[in-house]
Amino acid sequence: MTDRALPQMMTAQSAAESLRRLTQFSQAIGEITSIPATAERVLSEFSEMAQCRQGALYLAEHERADFCRLAAQGLSSTEPAPLTISADHPLVRFVATHRQIADQSTGTSIAADAPLDRQSPPLDGMWGDIIIPLVNRGRLVAFVLFQSQPATRQLGSEPIELLTAMAQSAANVLDSQLICEDLRQSQTLMRRTDRLRSLETIAGGFAHEVRNPLTSIKTFIQLAPERKDDAEFMLDFSRVVLDDVYRIERLIQEILDYARHMEPKLTEEDVNEIVSSCLYFIDVQARSQEIKIEKELASELPRVMLDRQQIKQVLLNLFLNAMDAIGKQSGTLRVRTSKMMKPEGDIWVQIEVQDTGCGIPAANLERVFDPFFTTKHDGGENEGTGLGLAIAHQIVQEHRGNIHVQSAVGVGTTFRINLPSHAY
Ligand SMILES: Nc1ncnc2c1ncn2[C@@H]1O[C@H](COP(=O)(O)OP(=O)(O)O)[C@@H](O)[C@H]1O
Ligand SMILES: [Mg+2]
Repeated sequence: MTDRALPQMMTAQSAAESLRRLTQFSQAIGEITSIPATAERVLSEFSEMAQCRQGALYLAEHERADFCRLAAQGLSSTEPAPLTISADHPLVRFVATHRQIADQSTGTSIAADAPLDRQSPPLDGMWGDIIIPLVNRGRLVAFVLFQSQPATRQLGSEPIELLTAMAQSAANVLDSQLICEDLRQSQTLMRRTDRLRSLETIAGGFAHEVRNPLTSIKTFIQLAPERKDDAEFMLDFSRVVLDDVYRIERLIQEILDYARHMEPKLTEEDVNEIVSSCLYFIDVQARSQEIKIEKELASELPRVMLDRQQIKQVLLNLFLNAMDAIGKQSGTLRVRTSKMMKPEGDIWVQIEVQDTGCGIPAANLERVFDPFFTTKHDGGENEGTGLGLAIAHQIVQEHRGNIHVQSAVGVGTTFRINLPSHAY
């Protein structure tokens, strides 16, 4: 920090150069539409400016009280930057309040030399020490963490001023992108809800689903009198017909579950315990399919007011779908619970169900919650009804929560259920 104490005069030329660089940078990131790509660009530009090769950018998690690593560069595998950093970390809190670039190793804010809280523990014992906050509308949207090098220590006030201006511009862009993302999600939810309300869809879907098995039953009944002595015909066809009857029965049961007015009976429950008991149910089947189950349950999860049976039904549906998606190749089913903090201070609980199965093609992603949408057409008893996720969505909505899906073909699928800890 030696030359920072010295008064620095910006030459006209360097000021023009800084302005040009800032403008170019702002224009470039303003044109990027995806959040991860923006993060990459911001990190690489900052790393060049600050002359730090090792760094990572962390973005505020949607409605969660921590920051997630979104971009990284130059990290060594022995000392990786953590994937998440809590918003409660003293250094994070410090930059959120002071909104200035800070240096943990000297315990000062680089720009104003304001002392950090001397009691601050190092960032989980990791390497990062320079932290650049990205603040917009008074909120810490993201921050960049660097491992400083001797050159950084010599950074004069010009690069720091430029970095601060760039950080403002980057915060602005990232914040707008986050808002767009939020808006997209709400629109999607609204569209889905509208569709689910439509009785026509359900009635039409049901009629369609039942027509095929009914036709086969009808054909059998028509043919049976004249073919009754053909044992092979009678045996084969009666099997088919029985499957069809099962299918109709299953459809009726599921549609009743779906249509029944589902006012949940709320009791205060431990979500971790419900997750564990559902996993217990599927344990045998998972083993036989060589599916590894990974359970990451948050230790301090608040209890949630919920309908135990209904939430179990939702989770089982998700677990069975995940196992269907993994199919015959072995794979992993990962279930995670965590606590989330809404901006208004409400506490929510998130259940994440992730599989390494076949994934869902983009074209189907928005349809998976539609009643009767299924890709499981293998016939017989395993044929899908396409009601599992529609019911799951309905139940979660009745709990004033929401459910989202993210998927990549060939990689896997993640469902996230968010539930308010006090639903009413
Ligand atoms: N974890 C998953 N991985 C891949 N595809 C899935 C997953 N979960 C649901 N799907 C897709 O969504 C469709 C609808 O699911 P669901 O409503 O449970 O009905 P069903 O399981 O009877 O087909 C499935 O047929 C499948 O195509
Ligand atoms: Mg299903």
